[in-house]
Amino acid sequence: MGQTFRKKLVLLGTGGTIAGLATAAHDNVGYKAAQVGVAELLEALPKALRPQASVLSEQVAQVDSKDMGLDVWQALAQRCAFWMADPEVAGVIVTHGTDTMEETAYFLHEVLAGSGVAHKPVVLTGAMRPASSLTPDGPQNMLDALVVAADPRARGVLVVFGGTIHGAPDVQKVHAYRQDAFGGGEDGPLGRVEEGAAAWVRPPAIGGASLLTEAGQGPDWPSLLQGPVAWPRVEIVSSHAGASPWMVDALLAQRASHGLDGIVVAGTGNASVHAALEAALLKAHEDGVVVWRASRCGSGHTVGRLDTPLPDAGGLSPVKARIALMLHLLAGQGRSRP
Ligand code: SIN
Repeated sequence: MGQTFRKKLVLLGTGGTIAGLATAAHDNVGYKAAQVGVAELLEALPKALRPQASVLSEQVAQVDSKDMGLDVWQALAQRCAFWMADPEVAGVIVTHGTDTMEETAYFLHEVLAGSGVAHKPVVLTGAMRPASSLTPDGPQNMLDALVVAADPRARGVLVVFGGTIHGAPDVQKVHAYRQDAFGGGEDGPLGRVEEGAAAWVRPPAIGGASLLTEAGQGPDWPSLLQGPVAWPRVEIVSSHAGASPWMVDALLAQRASHGLDGIVVAGTGNASVHAALEAALLKAHEDGVVVWRASRCGSGHTVGRLDTPLPDAGGLSPVKARIALMLHLLAGQGRSRP
């Protein structure tokens, strides 16, 4: 049997600055995110520059990504899984705000691991300047994302931004204002997009380096995420000079009324924790709260094992470790990290 010719790309809109509008074209800060529909953003892209594929668009949400919620993640995972199951679809593109893009990318990386993402890409992109800007970066980022989604070498959950291609486990927003706002961690980006073509530095890992599942194995997340989900409550606390047990004590005091299943501590350096905070975390651990340590450092990963019963989060940043722990608990797994 010959290879299936995949001729469709699917563009899912979730909002963000890429869909933002300001009252003045020179204003790249005082705008309102999530105002323009994804179909309109697509329509504004010159057809001659798009890859040779039909592009369908669908508005999944319209939010400023600082307000991203689990309900949108659920809907997005469902739509990605739905479209990836279509043999004609080559890839899915998601427009998203930059503020929590790395979290959504990591969430999708984990929950789509068994849903065809080993063979097809899900590409997130966005913009640092609103659609109304004198020189918006969104259109070029969208074109680059379409190029990568149509590239037969692309697979896994990727972020395409500022001409670079990043993998979901490593990508991080590293600048609050510049258009080249994302970094790819210690190993750097997976590739670049140059004049309408992807230039790969290294191939994306098949199925991604998922913390929870191998490609095609583990829970059927899209089905599990259908309908209401009783999300575990996992909070992040930070270790710093002069840290106290207060935040953890406050969380534990509210446990009966608000629930508390896990805590990720954003530790210093190699995920070490101030003694006063660690004492409170150990108490939480003894009370059955699952506590993972991550590093608050912007790059690098935790190395070796510290002398503590609190496991490290396998090199994930605190925000990604929180997602991994929520999914880990949702899958009914115990307190240890796989
Ligand atoms: C957002 O994250 O939705 C707003 C900020 C941005 O997209 O850069």
